Amino acid sequence: MRFWKEKRLLLGISGGIAACKTPELIRLCREAGATVTVVVTEAALQFVTRTTLEALSGGPVHGDLFAPGGSMEHIHLGRETELVILAPATADLLARMAAGIGNDLLTTLLLAHQGPVLAAPAMNCRMWRHPATRRNVALLQGDGLHLVGPETGTLACGEEGEGRMAEPPAILEAGRRLLTPQILAGKHLLMTVGPTREALDPVRYLTNHSSGKMGMAIAAAALRAGARVSLVHGPTASSPPSGATAIPVTSAREMAAATLGLWPDCDAAILTAAVADYRPATSQAQKMKKDGSGAALTLELVENPDILATLSARRAAPPPPGSTPLPASPLLVGFAAETGSALDHGREKLRRKGCDLLVVNDVAEAGSGFGEETNRVSLLWRNGREEHWPLLTKAEVGERLVAQVAAALATTGAK
Ligand code: CTP
Repeated sequence: MRFWKEKRLLLGISGGIAACKTPELIRLCREAGATVTVVVTEAALQFVTRTTLEALSGGPVHGDLFAPGGSMEHIHLGRETELVILAPATADLLARMAAGIGNDLLTTLLLAHQGPVLAAPAMNCRMWRHPATRRNVALLQGDGLHLVGPETGTLACGEEGEGRMAEPPAILEAGRRLLTPQILAGKHLLMTVGPTREALDPVRYLTNHSSGKMGMAIAAAALRAGARVSLVHGPTASSPPSGATAIPVTSAREMAAATLGLWPDCDAAILTAAVADYRPATSQAQKMKKDGSGAALTLELVENPDILATLSARRAAPPPPGSTPLPASPLLVGFAAETGSALDHGREKLRRKGCDLLVVNDVAEAGSGFGEETNRVSLLWRNGREEHWPLLTKAEVGERLVAQVAAALATTGAK
């Protein structure tokens, strides 16, 4: 993950049972390319050993405010870091922070640190709900502390409730969002993702190979850039990124209804879904049976609504007489997975569908097929501008595309 390369993280660990998940967080951060400096409270070492933390972070574990030669550590350590992550952040650590107490290296360092701080609280659910904790969290958030979690689930004490520390990948993702420029802040992005399924009977359906990975990667990048994301998605194995408003649908007609309903409120729509162009003319209520004659089965298919073309037509339609002035048009981005002469097909499709930008890829090309982690795309803009990107990971395509959409929104001044 290029993003974390050369980034310096300071991981503060306080004394809760969730500290046993922190080694996994350190491993993830380092695997992503970040350097990790570990600072522990005294209690943290009751739950995770210094040896484990040193081995995984590849450096010394700091904890003693009065260590020989370390008299200015609380100043230097904070200065040399882009982001402080507190995982776990116990009720006690949050209370000391809220009161501005600096009675160990970690809390003193937090007083001296000026950059962003992300806390992953973890505690028993009654401790999390306690008025003192509620008060402390509200104070700290007012002071600019960012939180990830806690999650609801089974707690270490066996109780069920809110208080589980967020999982390490979610903590890392939250940190990444904090460090990402908010180029889509205040913007509402509408997306369609994945395949649709068109039922033949209660058992069978027509569909395609779309994995939804490209769409989910764009949604993740947009969320990191501060957008509100409404994600209308067909049945896919890829999960919507956390923070997106997911609207699961099955058929093309359901996808069309959900998308058209959200369209008037969005600033940009990115339609990545591989919508089934046709559906069976009738869907049988009972499972279809073989008649045993060996005769060929003929299916009658009817065309599905074209969501992209419908949105494009709505945008072009003049406002109804007497209506209040319309907001600036949402930006409309389509995708086209082609085989052979992809660019020619794409140019024709851009004209036919009337979108602002069409992102084209050749699914027959190595590395750009369905379900791959990479993609090589070309961007065809309505004004004739074309960009041909190299083979990139889908995450990188998502980030670059989000930057393009943000730039286009900034110049068109869409609502
Ligand atoms: N699309 C849509 N609704 C449909 C079909 C396609 O919104 N019923 C959108 C897709 O989400 C994509 C773009 O239109 O953004 C192009 O999809 P594609 O399937 O390539 O377009 P088609 O018009 O169906 O062309 P083809 O004949 O090549 O399948």
